[in-house]
Amino acid sequence: MGRSMTWIFGYGSLVWRPGFPFEERRPAWIRGWQRRFWQGSPDHRGVPGRPGRVVTLIASDGARCDGMAYRLADDTAAGVLTALDHREKAGYRRLVLPLYAPDGSDAPFAEGLCFAAAPGNPDWLGPAPVAEMAAQIRERHGPSGPNLEYLARLEAALRELGVSDPHVEELWRATRAPE
Ligand code: BEZ
Repeated sequence: MGRSMTWIFGYGSLVWRPGFPFEERRPAWIRGWQRRFWQGSPDHRGVPGRPGRVVTLIASDGARCDGMAYRLADDTAAGVLTALDHREKAGYRRLVLPLYAPDGSDAPFAEGLCFAAAPGNPDWLGPAPVAEMAAQIRERHGPSGPNLEYLARLEAALRELGVSDPHVEELWRATRAPE
């Protein structure tokens, strides 16, 4: 039997906590999408009525979003996808996109599946002034923990990967600025 071709691309919590078995992982990026803390989380990093802010992908010409790609084993792929659909249920839908390696190769190394919440879904929060988003992230908590921990872990994981994401860095600085 050949190698499994099922790849998952993570750009949020899946960067630091995939929570599923995989055969291989490698840093990757996707073209034409940017990471934004514009999706409400009423079930992980907040609660209904007081949602946290978590990342989604926004289509943007020429943009690049860096994250981590995971290759699944054939015998676990179906179960992993079902579990992810459940874990990420609030507003997220699957996308299949070409995955590029950070080494500068022009051709994608694979196609990967990722999850994006589209504008207008029931938990959509959309853009807001940085100070407002930072205040929300500082205050909100949900069953998976504090919203601030989600941002802190994402910021640390991207820094470890050597990835610069101005949106994440700006929000992280704003949560740490004195009020
Ligand atoms: C991710 O980490 O890639 C992810 C972000 C939002 C929903 C599901 C997964």
